[in-house]
Amino acid sequence: MVEKWGEDYFLLGPYFPQKAASEFEPILDLDDSPAGRTVRRMREMGYSVQYGYWLVTGKPRVVLFDVASMYPLLDRIKFNLWESQRISTINTEDLVNQTLLFGEAVRVYLTAYADEHAKKSDVTAQFHEWMSSSGLSDLRKDNVKIALSFTTHATMLGRYLAQNVTDFYGKLPFFDWEQEARHYNIVTQATIERLSAQNAHVLTTVSDVTARECEVFLGRMPDLVTPNGLNVVRFQAVHEFQNLHVKYKERIQEFVLGHFFPSYSFDLDKTLYFFTSGRYEYSNKGYDLTLEALARLNWKMVQANMDMTVVMFIVTKQPYHSITPHVLQSRAVLDELQETCTAIEKQVGERLFLATAAGSDHKMPDLNNFVDEYWRLRLRRTIQTWKTDELPAFVTHDLVESDGIVEFCRQANLVNNERDRVKIVYHPDFISSTNPLFGLDYGQFVRGCHLGVFPSYYEPWGYTPLECVVRGVPTVTSDLSGFGDYIMQIMRDYENRGIYVINRKSQTFTQAADQMADILFKFVKMQRRDRIMQRNRVENISDVFDWTNLRSYYDTAHDLANKRRKP
Ligand code: UDP
Ligand code: G6P
Repeated sequence: MVEKWGEDYFLLGPYFPQKAASEFEPILDLDDSPAGRTVRRMREMGYSVQYGYWLVTGKPRVVLFDVASMYPLLDRIKFNLWESQRISTINTEDLVNQTLLFGEAVRVYLTAYADEHAKKSDVTAQFHEWMSSSGLSDLRKDNVKIALSFTTHATMLGRYLAQNVTDFYGKLPFFDWEQEARHYNIVTQATIERLSAQNAHVLTTVSDVTARECEVFLGRMPDLVTPNGLNVVRFQAVHEFQNLHVKYKERIQEFVLGHFFPSYSFDLDKTLYFFTSGRYEYSNKGYDLTLEALARLNWKMVQANMDMTVVMFIVTKQPYHSITPHVLQSRAVLDELQETCTAIEKQVGERLFLATAAGSDHKMPDLNNFVDEYWRLRLRRTIQTWKTDELPAFVTHDLVESDGIVEFCRQANLVNNERDRVKIVYHPDFISSTNPLFGLDYGQFVRGCHLGVFPSYYEPWGYTPLECVVRGVPTVTSDLSGFGDYIMQIMRDYENRGIYVINRKSQTFTQAADQMADILFKFVKMQRRDRIMQRNRVENISDVFDWTNLRSYYDTAHDLANKRRKP
């Protein structure tokens, strides 16, 4: 966007001092750019407004409103929303209040901006989600000279209903939006979303999957679909991403060694790392299907007497007290073991060298003599602490309460028994580089794995499989996710390229689990050479999802909004 529009492109957002400290660089002397001039006007009106650069790729200008300072205006804003749009905001929670304040700041800013600039050139405001758009309908009503484009990345009602109603898609055409909004106590949110969709000059959403929801819940079919992309950074040397896979796989391997080997061992050279990740929405994110398919995969691998092992990481966010002490301890003992071995190696090396240089006969010296009693004892003690009779924990953290994942593993007896070929590591926290178990950030962790698994039931787009693709990691997705649906539309040989789409539209849960278990089983049987080639093929798709290519969908939306705004 910055490439296309230069300083005419800027963003509006809420001001959070802590986030701003690391991601925002203020412009102290207000410049004469269009955005800067309107900031000056708004400050004159008494609003607290920050202006500067957002330190992401492209370094766009950004205007940030200090929502906290606007609380005295809240009652008047709520009154106006009711008077002018019949948006009911009684007893809204604080997060909603904040969005109302932010929406108002956006409305005031855009009104002032249009006053100054819209006579000279076309201006488009692109709103993302209802949380930014409580002022949109009034901008339309007041005939402010700005083209309004509204993009919804999901629908509020869709999220709630998909999670709580069985056969959501079968029932979709028949829901009464207002009744459901009342039932889930989200009338304000749903009304803002619906009115924004209806009053915008152009409505877009991120996938055909969500477009169907828009028709039912928002009362308007989107004008077009604007798929999600990434800023794809590819390496000059084609094989660099393969090297990174090996590098980060070694780190994951270290964790696996520390976690499993005190109980029993398996061949790390024949071990594959699968993972799923995302917010804890058990069925929406397809964790239920993933676990069912893994149980079946385990059975298949045991039956086939395979010597391969799959370690499945489930990465999500659930309330916990702390990392399980036992899990932390294995990790610490592993480090101790490594340190002791290194010390012994050094001692033996030095003494062997001296002994060999000084030796008069041609006999090979006895290496055992070169290790001090101290180190022998320390090694023996570490080995003793190292070994345990217990099974490796399948949850890494001490959860506040049990959940669907834990229940399933217990019930299916998928609890890291030695004979099982599929091992589970349920990590109920997002991954960050300060995490003592892996010491990797999320992106590095993804690179180190062999397969990302995301067979979602409800997923308007779904960034996680796409993030695998651009890192050259094959992935499982579903035809109910926006990403899966899109890939099926634009590509024929996606499966050959390492994108496996589970059919959840027309198959039952059991059929989908079977299909997925077959796919995973086939993946496990691949040779290393084939895996390497598949990683190349999947990484090769990356450019398709680069914003440089996908920006054009937004350009189209904005052109259309401007055409519609002018009589
Ligand atoms: N994610 C992360 N750390 C983790 C796990 C996930 O940062 O440990 C991020 C992931 O990179 C992705 C986002 O969480 O960008 C989830 O987005 P997605 O579109 O898949 O699902 P949504 O949250 O929108 O439902
Ligand atoms: C990359 C490296 C290879 C390595 C392979 C491991 O392709 O360039 O040297 O052998 O990764 O692949 P695997 O699928 O077994 O982790």
